[in-house]
Amino acid sequence: MSDTIILAIESSCDETAAAVARNDTEILSNIVSSQIDVHKDFGGVVPEVASRIHVENISAVIDEALKQANVKPSDLDAIAVTQGPGLIGSLHVGVQAAKTLAWAFSKPLVPVHHIAGHIYANALVTKLEFPLLALVVSGGHTELVYMKDEWSFEILGTTQDDAIGEAGDKVGRVLKLPYPGGVYVDRLAKQGKNIYPLAKPKTQNELDFSFSGLKSSVLQFIDRCERKQMSFEPADLACSYQECALQELLDPTRSALKQYRPKMMVLAGGVAANSRLRELVEQDLSREFADVSFVIPPLSCCTDNAAMIAVAGSVAYRHGVRGDFSLTADPGMELCVDSEASNQ
Ligand code: KG4
Ligand code: ZN
Repeated sequence: MSDTIILAIESSCDETAAAVARNDTEILSNIVSSQIDVHKDFGGVVPEVASRIHVENISAVIDEALKQANVKPSDLDAIAVTQGPGLIGSLHVGVQAAKTLAWAFSKPLVPVHHIAGHIYANALVTKLEFPLLALVVSGGHTELVYMKDEWSFEILGTTQDDAIGEAGDKVGRVLKLPYPGGVYVDRLAKQGKNIYPLAKPKTQNELDFSFSGLKSSVLQFIDRCERKQMSFEPADLACSYQECALQELLDPTRSALKQYRPKMMVLAGGVAANSRLRELVEQDLSREFADVSFVIPPLSCCTDNAAMIAVAGSVAYRHGVRGDFSLTADPGMELCVDSEASNQ
């Protein structure tokens, strides 16, 4: 059988990225141009600025991905692109670039859901086994996704308010850490102790999550200390927040593992880079659920990149997912249940 070569483009938030994959998981190139240095001065992603920088960088990023992969556009089998969810202006740039290339070189267009990309990043380290449970934790998402089979997605639980990454970035901001705060809270927490009592999140459904109460509890704690002119130890607060947030993440995950008994569980999304979460999954969960294999994506593939879209795009391509030239960015895109539903 001949090789399948896919070019993937990702521009859903503040990373302009392109990658080339051969036969699903052999990554021939993976180029990411990050805008973090620009947005950190604003303490968060400014959508208008993000889309303008995507426009400036997208051609060079795609060129470089093809060059490093030593692939010509005519060698490609398909062009995959993140259609959503994400920032509309940012997504639009990637979708237009993909449509232009697909038209110019007469190649099939494969729209990909960003979260499917995060989940399939795990295929870069191991062969995925189904049924599979994915804990998706990023700046915009906190979800438990059940995959009965390849390219079949069912959302079991989701956050009722903030995503865990968003809450971590906010806590980082009030602790006066650089943007995006998640990784700095992670580092600071290592030097602290879990000693401050914070509000435990509550949800009605045991597979759902909630982080806004916990986030507010951190803000109120700092506010109270300032009003009473009491000092507090930032490392202890970072550690107390993180332990509480991760507990909130793992309780519904345990319930889902008990109820659904998957063969494999994977972590997905930017927060999968969290060192304490990785430790808790590797040590505690894998001991409690010895018959499940636990997979954690490589650090380089946790945060947004196009290699993950290339892997998911290759699987989608095999499942017959196609987009035509009427394809548009879908900022609120749903994770489709099966390949039929994702056909454009
Ligand atoms: O997946 P991603 O790159 O973008 C979205 O799709 O949202 O995730 C970005 C999120 C940010 O909130 C960032 O602070 C968080 O992932 N993050 C972390 C760590 N590294 C990145 N959060 C906690 N600990 C980390 N080590
Ligand atoms: Zn992401």
